[in-house]
Amino acid sequence: MDATTGTVDGVALVALAAREGTPLYVYSAPAIRGRVRALRDALAGLDAGIRYAVKANGNGAILQLLAAEGAGADIVSGGELQRALRAGIAAADIVFSGVGKTDVEIDAALAAGIGRFNVESRAELDAIQRIAAARGCTAVASVRINPDVDALTHAKISTGKAENKFGVPTDEARAWFDGAAQWPNLRLDGLHMHIGSQLLSLQPVREALQRMAAFWRELEAAGHAIASIDVGGGLGVRYRDGEVAPDAAEYAAAIREALAGFGGRILVEPGRWLVAEAGLLLTRVVLEKQGRARRFLVLDAGMNDLLRPSLYEAWHDIVRVGGDVGRERVAYDVVGPVCETGDTFARQRDMPRCDAGDLVAILGAGAYGASMASTYNSRPLAAEVLVEDGRYALIRKRQDFDAMIADERPANEWKSA
Ligand code: LLP
Repeated sequence: MDATTGTVDGVALVALAAREGTPLYVYSAPAIRGRVRALRDALAGLDAGIRYAVKANGNGAILQLLAAEGAGADIVSGGELQRALRAGIAAADIVFSGVGKTDVEIDAALAAGIGRFNVESRAELDAIQRIAAARGCTAVASVRINPDVDALTHAKISTGKAENKFGVPTDEARAWFDGAAQWPNLRLDGLHMHIGSQLLSLQPVREALQRMAAFWRELEAAGHAIASIDVGGGLGVRYRDGEVAPDAAEYAAAIREALAGFGGRILVEPGRWLVAEAGLLLTRVVLEKQGRARRFLVLDAGMNDLLRPSLYEAWHDIVRVGGDVGRERVAYDVVGPVCETGDTFARQRDMPRCDAGDLVAILGAGAYGASMASTYNSRPLAAEVLVEDGRYALIRKRQDFDAMIADERPANEWKSA
């Protein structure tokens, strides 16, 4: 966003808010395209594929945009499978991750013909074997290794430590490869890892990659052909002015170095890096309130729309649309209307003074914003728009009240279970 002009890709946010209302998610198509192309370029020369982590932002229009740039999908549920397929992503370009895949989800993924399962437990191997045998097909799978490294990120989004629920130790993985014959409908020929999200240092990635590379060499030496290494996602972004995030080239260099000599296919599963900085949450100031100890700026967006600050104490830059010029500076607690103290976007944030009715943009909201939204406090889901070249497309209409309660029923029909 250009804060001084209040525009995104030539679309004036004031006009956009007047037409579509607030809170409103605004995504820049060129910014997303720019990221996916930068990553593709950085990986050029490697036999590598991008598997976008749908959880970051699963809006169908975003998936289509990424699919048009050649990205596949990393999914974690049957719902994400359907989203990816409907967006036109080839089943062969879909990988299925997650610790708790149900039989129904595994069956749907096999029916669709997805490219690969990232397996995290023996029980899951058994389930895939049973379901693939019933279908008379062969599933392709990678083992998710838990490399036991500290990703140096927020505890709630760290996934590669021994105490986390994700992946398995190499000892267990080795036993699976050695005993693979017991799963005849499964081709176990890949390795996977994902150590955490919002990684601002590549050091943990390098360490984990080295551990995985050592294990791949060991498996090859033992006669197990490894066709695919999936390095997961996790690449961090700049949420705060001045923060430095790794770039695609550095990331790709780390992969190249660690996996030098690997002849199979390399997969990457970025979510946040592709979409976070391409999106903002446009919201209107409801009122200003001087509390006894704090000055509050109350917005019409709440934790139900953007949960990250409440859940992870995450920082998002917040700017007044229309700029700061000639306005006194105020330390605001920027909050939403939801009935919880946790409904806070920022504490003691230095901002230009804002008036009721002003528009404010919460930046870095393209990833894990709309995808984590809820209707808590009976607040309908926000609308989403994609902008490009001075125009916008409504890619999710604002939920109306009837849609919000459409699946509820009065208790007037009682059944015995
Ligand atoms: N692959 C796997 C197996 C994952 O679990 C994840 C994210 C990704 C890829 C994509 O990670 P990314 O590139 O987006 O960091 N809601 C949290 C983030 C949770 C990430 C969960 N897994 C947040 O708002 O920070």
